Amino acid sequence: FLRGLAAAPIVAAAGCALGQGSSTPKETGMRPLPLPPLAESVVDASGVRQFALVAAPGNSSMLAGKTTATWGYNGSQLGPTIRARRGEQVAFTIQNALPEPTSVHWHGMHVPAEFDGGPHQTIEAGATWKPTWTVKQPAATLWYHPHPHGSTEKHVYRGLAGMFIVDDDESDALGLPNSYGVDDFPVIVADRRFTSDGELDDTDPTDVGLLGDTIVTNGIAGAYLSVSTELVRLRLLNGSSGRLYNFGFADDRDFDVIASDGGLLTEPFAAKRIQLSPGERIEIVVAVQSGETTMLRSYPIDRFGGVEQSDAAAYGLTDSFDILELRSAARLVGSLPLPATLATIDAPNSAAAVVNREFVLQWFMINGVRMDMNRIDFTPTVDTTEVWTVHNKDNWPHNFHVHDTQFQILDIDGSPPPPALAGWKDTVYTPPGQRIRLALRFSEYTDPTFPYMYHCHLLLHEDKGMMGQFLVLAPGQKAEPMTMDMPMD
Ligand code: C2O
Ligand code: CU
Repeated sequence: FLRGLAAAPIVAAAGCALGQGSSTPKETGMRPLPLPPLAESVVDASGVRQFALVAAPGNSSMLAGKTTATWGYNGSQLGPTIRARRGEQVAFTIQNALPEPTSVHWHGMHVPAEFDGGPHQTIEAGATWKPTWTVKQPAATLWYHPHPHGSTEKHVYRGLAGMFIVDDDESDALGLPNSYGVDDFPVIVADRRFTSDGELDDTDPTDVGLLGDTIVTNGIAGAYLSVSTELVRLRLLNGSSGRLYNFGFADDRDFDVIASDGGLLTEPFAAKRIQLSPGERIEIVVAVQSGETTMLRSYPIDRFGGVEQSDAAAYGLTDSFDILELRSAARLVGSLPLPATLATIDAPNSAAAVVNREFVLQWFMINGVRMDMNRIDFTPTVDTTEVWTVHNKDNWPHNFHVHDTQFQILDIDGSPPPPALAGWKDTVYTPPGQRIRLALRFSEYTDPTFPYMYHCHLLLHEDKGMMGQFLVLAPGQKAEPMTMDMPMD
């Protein structure tokens, strides 16, 4: 079994109809969804919440009956779920026990640039890194993963990824399911390819990166989750390198979508399908009946994600997979109904934008250039609003991720965003040919030496150079970027 990952509490599912509305998993028998443990922390005398992470190799049981060499934080793969409250100062001691340099990036988190964990904050093999910051953003499901220059795909594929849940008073007051591992579950979805002896196969990437034929949910294939409450909250993370998912239940039941990348939506909305590109998160609440079984699946991507039908299969857009079977107990604990409103979104005022920028995604480049660690692409001014237009000129999938801030989507090819894309976002799918306009605000942390990144979150594309850098500066401040050796090319 997965070292460092405890099984979810198993609730007897008396009389449940196994396999109803679901296909049989490839593995012999299903296994309970591993629940990443909550990261232990100590609050020191000055009120700082201290965490410790060790990135190290290990062995995992991703496939039943087989052992796979993997990398993980505080365990053989994935990592503990970090939980902190808005307003709290957090501090990490991160030790790199891997055979090569890595980094730890706090995806979706507003962090001082020097602690952002991007390619400028490499942790050498054997070294330790100690980032610290104060959490200054609303409740959200964020995540952490490596971001070393040119090898992010490999490090994430090996298993390095964990969730970072931010809590706040407003979300606590809503009565949402929020007992970790009881009615609130992290669900990290990734695709992997295995060699015949059960090792990870990272050869032959497609144009969109490594595509696997096996889905692993919280690190295992063929996962089921025993649930014991009427409402179940799933925090879905697309932790894949290049695969898109279109989540929905095999019996087509509705579920409520309550949050996107950066936190709660203004109100829940009912959906049957929800699409996630690499790096994106969505929180859903699903109602279950006692003693039933239903399969969370991924369906072919709507309209092939805007890609030509003839190319869709090669990019994995026509695939469907079982993701996680929910098995509900014979008797369920009652849940509070979802509130009608969830959060107030204080959106940046795009009419007051001081700068418009254009980002053309094409041929593994952004605006015709590849990532250069010694080039600052632009320097937004702190406390100003910008409007960015992202245009995918390729005919294959890309997405767009921005560090440091959460953005609002203004429009997609001129149309307002659908409800799933109307909340705070840090990553957005960019269909071929389309233009997406974002409104962003950079609120602080002016460090003239360390840049933040923006990039395609299809990890092969990022590694190939579809990434750029910006410094958030105070008015009149000068950029003083550090000169780095480029380990790539
Ligand atoms: Cu999830 Cu720049 O990364
Ligand atoms: Cu891309």
